[in-house]
Amino acid sequence: MDFSTYIVLIILSIAYVNRVSIKATMADASSNQFAVRAKLHYDLEAIALASTDYGHIIRDTPFAVLYPTHSDDITELIKFSNKCPLPFNVSARGCGHSVRGQDMAQDGIVVNMLSLKEQHKNGTGITVSTSGHYADVGGEQLWIDVLNATLQYGLAPVSWTDYLYLTVGGTLSNAGVSGQAFLYGPQISNVLEMDVITGKGHFVTCSKDLNSELFFAVLGGLGQFGIINRARIVLAKAPTRVKWVKMLYHDFSIFTRDQEQLISIKGPDYLEGYLMMDYIPVNEWRSPFFTPYNESQISSLLKKYGILYGLEMVKYYDDETANLVDKEVQRLQDGLNYIPGFSFTRDVTYVDFLNRVRQEEIALRSGGLWDVPHPWLNLFVPKSHIMDFNAGVFVDILHSKKMSKGPLLVYPTTKTKWDDRMSAVTPDEDIFYLVGILQAGSFDNWQELDNINNEILEFCNRAGINIKQYLPHYTSEEDWIKHFGSKWNTFRERKARFDPRMILSPGQKVFDSV
Ligand SMILES: Cc1cc2nc3c(=O)[nH]c(=O)nc-3n(C[C@H](O)[C@H](O)[C@H](O)COP(=O)(O)OP(=O)(O)OC[C@H]3O[C@@H](n4cnc5c(N)ncnc54)[C@H](O)[C@@H]3O)c2cc1C
Ligand SMILES: *[C@@H]1O[C@H](CO)[C@@H](O)[C@H](O)[C@H]1NC(C)=O
Ligand SMILES: *[C@@H]1O[C@H](CO)[C@@H](O)[C@H](O)[C@H]1NC(C)=O
Ligand SMILES: *[C@@H]1O[C@H](CO)[C@@H](O)[C@H](O)[C@H]1NC(C)=O
Ligand SMILES: *[C@@H]1O[C@H](CO)[C@@H](O)[C@H](O)[C@H]1NC(C)=O
Repeated sequence: MDFSTYIVLIILSIAYVNRVSIKATMADASSNQFAVRAKLHYDLEAIALASTDYGHIIRDTPFAVLYPTHSDDITELIKFSNKCPLPFNVSARGCGHSVRGQDMAQDGIVVNMLSLKEQHKNGTGITVSTSGHYADVGGEQLWIDVLNATLQYGLAPVSWTDYLYLTVGGTLSNAGVSGQAFLYGPQISNVLEMDVITGKGHFVTCSKDLNSELFFAVLGGLGQFGIINRARIVLAKAPTRVKWVKMLYHDFSIFTRDQEQLISIKGPDYLEGYLMMDYIPVNEWRSPFFTPYNESQISSLLKKYGILYGLEMVKYYDDETANLVDKEVQRLQDGLNYIPGFSFTRDVTYVDFLNRVRQEEIALRSGGLWDVPHPWLNLFVPKSHIMDFNAGVFVDILHSKKMSKGPLLVYPTTKTKWDDRMSAVTPDEDIFYLVGILQAGSFDNWQELDNINNEILEFCNRAGINIKQYLPHYTSEEDWIKHFGSKWNTFRERKARFDPRMILSPGQKVFDSV
């Protein structure tokens, strides 16, 4: 935005606020329309926070940050923008755990969603239904708080992310995937209803049956159609403890065969997988699964094979099933072909298991390794090409370069529980793998690490592997069209319908060049 536009905007906003303030004073001095001006923050601290995210790669500076205390504040802000001859952009920001500026709004207004959370300290942000089948949850709420609140009733959501300090609105704008998705689908498949503030500033309740077009648009919709104010999340009886098993493989084809077998029989309650590389010392993982003796054994295997694959599976239990769970885990393991003896089991509470990444966060923070650049690449890889992907990416690129640090995740999930009417995009195969190349770098070297990502994407392109990016990041319209494939027209039509002036979540850069 150039300087003269700024001036016009400022004059317009002064005129608007004056108009509103007069109207408000006449009608009702405590009107929210009047309140919204006071809730815009321009101070360095607010601006700095909204100009950065977990990626530390993009830095877009907003004009101001809205600290809403009520959803009406957001409605008013969006309506105001729509009234301006040149509308300003608006981006909801949850925890800012995006890695490519998807939560930012250059010269626009960022809505600090966590400000709403402050208003709900009295517990009104998460309400469990009397039937116990669902909870109504504010879009600004963190999944850790949803877990905590629902557990008070012995209940919990069924589909998770690995890390729980993410907002409900933020993950539902993407998909929300983890090791439970093969059983229940992603988090977006476990939403019954939402209240959404559209790009026109309309407050709309939607579900599969009511205003369904908006409902399907918003789920996986990258923030393009509306701001999620409330979501009704499916609940089920929560277990109290889990058996958590890690098994090591050196042969990728046996590893993936076992993973696919386990999800097809729906044996475990959770299944993931990860890579261990020989250039990273085993003790750097500080894994509570491994004794020092185990670490030395694993090191020898790594010397021999270069890469090891870890299959991670979990079986939930509670008092009633406590005497059966060991047998059940044994039964599942009996059919598997991991390296003999290389199986490690822990018995922890359900909360400690779900909240496992928090421990890593605390450790990384204490080493100054949390607030660093994260050139992450998350991909959905069709099952038919996962062997090529292993050879071309894990072996030939990542292992050869010996540069990447950070978790490398690989596990299969099924498409059956994804609803194709939603905006979220997956490959066109019943089974696909979630691959997370979660590199952590420094402010000096992140470009080099990002080049590896480009190399990976180029390899997939050359090899004809039809991957889809998860938490996508593209810079050209052509790439977005390719990403959405047959969904592109619907996505565009929905944009024209719900956010015709294209003001929402500009940091996603979907409609940048349109
Ligand atoms: C350590 C870590 C682990 C992670 N693990 C997983 C994982 O296991 N599985 C997984 O699926 N993802 C995972 N993620 C990614 C996570 O889902 C995304 O970062 C997501 O964006 C949620 O973060 P957030 O709530 O901070 O949203 P933000 O980054 O603040 O926002 C994300 C997008 O959603 C929009 N948005 C935010 N709030 C709303 C709202 N209420 N309504 C509409 N749009 C909104 C924003 O404008 C932006 O475009 C992980 C991220 C981190 C940092
Ligand atoms: C909780 O706080 C919200 C927001 O301030 C308010 O609207 C609501 O009435 C409060 N609820 C209770 C039970 O105090
Ligand atoms: C869960 O809620 C309880 C009671 O409100 C609180 O004491 C506890 O700290 C919360 N735990 C987490 C992990 O937030
Ligand atoms: C792991 O360590 C435990 C205790 O030191 C030992 O009993 C077990 O055999 C070890 N397993 C492997 C594969 O090293
Ligand atoms: C709003 O965002 C779009 C990208 O979505 C961008 O093209 C446009 O220039 C932005 N508008 C303003 C006024 O900054």
